[in-house]
Amino acid sequence: MNIGIILAAGEGKRMKSRHAKVLHKICGKPMISYVIEEAYKSGVDKNIVVVGHKKEELIEYLRDVDVIVREQPTGEGSPYGTAFAVSQAIDEVEDDDDVIILCADTPLITSDSIKNLFEYHKSTKSYASVLTTVLEDPTGYGRIVRKSNGDLLRIVEDKDATDDEKKIKEINSGIYCFNGKALKESIEKIDNKNKQNEYYLTDAIGILNSEGLKVSAYEISNCEEILGVNSREQLAIASKIMQKRINKYHLDNGVTIVDPDNTYIEPNVVIGYDTIIYPGAIIESNSIIGQNCKIIGNTRIVNSEIGNGCDIDSTLIESSVIGSNCHIGPFAHLRPNCKIGSNVKIGNFVEIKNSTIDDNSKAAHLSYVGDADVGKNVNIGCGVVFVNYDGKNKFRSTVKDNAFIGSNSNLVAPVVVEEYGYVAAGSTITDNVDEGDLSIARARQINIPGWVEKRGFKNHK
Ligand code: UD1
Ligand code: CA
Repeated sequence: MNIGIILAAGEGKRMKSRHAKVLHKICGKPMISYVIEEAYKSGVDKNIVVVGHKKEELIEYLRDVDVIVREQPTGEGSPYGTAFAVSQAIDEVEDDDDVIILCADTPLITSDSIKNLFEYHKSTKSYASVLTTVLEDPTGYGRIVRKSNGDLLRIVEDKDATDDEKKIKEINSGIYCFNGKALKESIEKIDNKNKQNEYYLTDAIGILNSEGLKVSAYEISNCEEILGVNSREQLAIASKIMQKRINKYHLDNGVTIVDPDNTYIEPNVVIGYDTIIYPGAIIESNSIIGQNCKIIGNTRIVNSEIGNGCDIDSTLIESSVIGSNCHIGPFAHLRPNCKIGSNVKIGNFVEIKNSTIDDNSKAAHLSYVGDADVGKNVNIGCGVVFVNYDGKNKFRSTVKDNAFIGSNSNLVAPVVVEEYGYVAAGSTITDNVDEGDLSIARARQINIPGWVEKRGFKNHK
């Protein structure tokens, strides 16, 4: 079996956060999730996450994730170090398993690299293989010490390295593949006699080597993948790299992204081809955007579905579904649970909440549509308000097909406007409007001739 052990018990001090480090998000998703998903994609059958510092929040999060959780004690004087962390999960490992060790704070690792490490490990018949890369500035990382013939000898931590060893640019990524038996046996032999008094997993390499068991190093050229996130600055760097990957995926899929550096798309978003995304767009969670759409300006689409051929300009859309060929915005707000049909126009400063609007209808300017079911071919005039709240309870209203709601009207819910019902501009509608009727609900205008002069207001300053 292929086992994954994902280390996530470290303190993460440099994040200066109340939250567990590995729950900090990269493109909307906790960094540990990327590591777990890539591990499964690479062929790991079972993942064990070792938690410790700030574990409550992490355990809560992992409740819905398919992993085994192991707790590392973190009290004063508790043993510490990557080898001690791995030992917390070791009873899940059988002798003939292959074990991949990953760090939850290395979120850019890809399943391809993990898979390649597995394959390299197997083809070289190694007992342990470590994933390495060469860095211009290797400061802080464990260094890969090789024998004169180039074979891997051991790993030395930055803090324990001699001046000569510090010059080595090949570094330990913190990602390894071990034979199960070799891992179990070597981990028992690791002590904490080093500058940090920690149990270093890296010592397993030297130990196996000294026992004559083959260890090897698998070097990758893309050092981005092993970037560890220990600070907010590294979190921002990792987010930028992840965003670039996501945007490249969409570009390769036939989506035009005018300025990928200024377009934020989360990893689960689906976008159809020939859609054009202009700078400033934010597309989040499980949103699905159809083909031939234009997403313009500071538009934010959260967990929503947009049909084909829609133009959406400078608009916020949350948890809603929109049909095809709609024009939305600029400056509209669709709050959760809206279902908009096709060929619908939602214009400037229109807010819609928990409502359906069927095909070919329009609300072009300055309206609030809350808790309403609006039929087909309905015109909602400028400034119409669906008055859905009496201060205590909310009520729904219905406007049926082909109805016309004149500008600046209020529909006081619950109320029904039947098919072809017409509401005169400026009406406050509290009773139902029957099919084909015109309803006028406003005070009749009175004109008083010469009133201004009689009051002596004319020519007064
Ligand atoms: C480790 C490696 C170093 C490597 C670097 C790559 C060791 C001794 N050193 O150093 O060679 O270059 O990663 O990023 O392994 N953790 C626990 N429990 C612990 C200690 C750590 O779960 O008791 C976890 C951390 O949460 C983290 C991972 O192990 O996910 C690595 O620990 P960290 O302290 O960051 O190790 P480094 O000093 O970076
Ligand atoms: Ca680290």
